[in-house]
Amino acid sequence: MEAQLLMDTIEREILANRLRSWILQAGKLIRDKMNDPLTISTKSNPKDLVTEMDKEVEFFFATKIKEFYPNHLLLGEEGYGHNEINKTDTIWIIDPNDGTMNFVNQKQDFAISIGIYHQGIGEIGYIYDVMSNTLYSALRGNGAYKNNAKLPKLKNEPLSVDESIVAFSHRWLMKNNFVNEKSMQQLVKEVRGVRSYGSAALGFARVAEGSLDAYITMRIEPWDIAAGKIIVNEVGGITTDVQGKELKLLERSSVISAHPEVHHTIVKKYLNRAVKRGARK
Ligand code: IPD
Ligand code: CA
Ligand code: CA
Repeated sequence: MEAQLLMDTIEREILANRLRSWILQAGKLIRDKMNDPLTISTKSNPKDLVTEMDKEVEFFFATKIKEFYPNHLLLGEEGYGHNEINKTDTIWIIDPNDGTMNFVNQKQDFAISIGIYHQGIGEIGYIYDVMSNTLYSALRGNGAYKNNAKLPKLKNEPLSVDESIVAFSHRWLMKNNFVNEKSMQQLVKEVRGVRSYGSAALGFARVAEGSLDAYITMRIEPWDIAAGKIIVNEVGGITTDVQGKELKLLERSSVISAHPEVHHTIVKKYLNRAVKRGARK
């Protein structure tokens, strides 16, 4: 029964190779235009930035999908996707530029993030750190890679919270509608270190490579999660909402993606009871 749900292996390989070359092409396009004047607009609030480059990159992938995979669907952040998405189709979930604020202000630490799901199952994940030219990738069941090097599995050896480095936004340390800030402050006191990268995709990538033990956020969108979840899964990491529940593919959610040994402890001790209504939606 399950076999019917899976993508054909050869078809998947061809798709993954094509997508890899398109991502590298899109990355080069961004780097080549890096010093051109930017057209920046805001979306939901003055800090929610989008540039013409974000749109151009999503359009680039939308055009490729239409040409090579007309039966596949696109869920993209910048609106070039399909209006009606059914979980049972083959869906490309794309954030053409994750970390737009970093792109605009810092000119580094932003990524192209693409996850392909077939019948609800994550098959292919790519996160491309454009400026460092680092490509994280995974095919379900085949492990995860950082460029051409296979990433080792995260070890199931005990890892305590006080030895862990976690990443989340400073927003969750201030009074907010999603999580009790006192609980997050307690977490800060007890972990070895805290980081804030400004790109959800790079948070997932760093959990996968083991340089980060947990990435936590109270509200992100499907295109922030899609690729990262597949890649982290391939090294044995766990990705759920902050109450430990499974994520829904097409819905906005809170997220903790972590080393298996600290996932459970952080959810249980710091997050579960601290979550407010806002984060559940
Ligand atoms: C944002 C980044 C940021 C996260 C936000 C996302 P964008 O994506 O991933 O780190 O905290 O929730 O919206 O807008 O740069 O694509
Ligand atoms: Ca994003
Ligand atoms: Ca984006």
